[in-house]
Amino acid sequence: MNGPQVRVRTPKDLRRDRRPHPHSCWDQLVVAPLWPLHGVNLGTLLRTCDAVGACLAVPRLPWVPEALERGNTLRHPACVHWTGNRVRWLERQRDRGSTVVGVELAEESVRLGDLPAARRRTVVVLGHEQTGIPPEALDLLDVTVEIPMVGTGASLNVAVAGSLVLYRLAGLL
Ligand SMILES: C[S@@+](CC[C@H](N)C(=O)[O-])C[C@H]1O[C@@H](n2cnc3c(N)ncnc32)[C@H](O)[C@@H]1O
Repeated sequence: MNGPQVRVRTPKDLRRDRRPHPHSCWDQLVVAPLWPLHGVNLGTLLRTCDAVGACLAVPRLPWVPEALERGNTLRHPACVHWTGNRVRWLERQRDRGSTVVGVELAEESVRLGDLPAARRRTVVVLGHEQTGIPPEALDLLDVTVEIPMVGTGASLNVAVAGSLVLYRLAGLL
């Protein structure tokens, strides 16, 4: 039986469809893995940020700049914001009128499928790979979103979870 003919797009086809230059800082959608543990997850999130037109906000921990440099497999610099004190940074985001969305397995969470695309500046907060979003930051969230799971694992990889939510908020899914 013959299926439909599939022609996989070549790198040249893809380049024609993409932006010729990286997006400048639109600063409308910002993903914030504020308690990172594994550098590789920051690299994965950078790729998603480029794909959806988002920025990455990270604390300046000693190992983070090098992890970002190693993880940025794109050929141009990514849009990175440095936070300083994480809780104060989150407070400032709220003060400037941003919506702060926490990605977390929480009783109050809305399901990813019910999360509307972002209509104003939105900050997406991700939790620590082992302990989640700390209590002092949970108080600063406007809403939490959970990605439904039916498998045996307790949670998703943090970069996968963040990427799914970014796609949804960017209106690309
Ligand atoms: C490995 S999980 C943390 C595990 C768990 N919160 C804990 O305290 O043991 C790391 C982060 O990934 C995100 N995450 C992973 N799976 C998720 C899911 N199904 N829905 C929403 N967020 C998820 C959250 O940001 C979470 O804080």
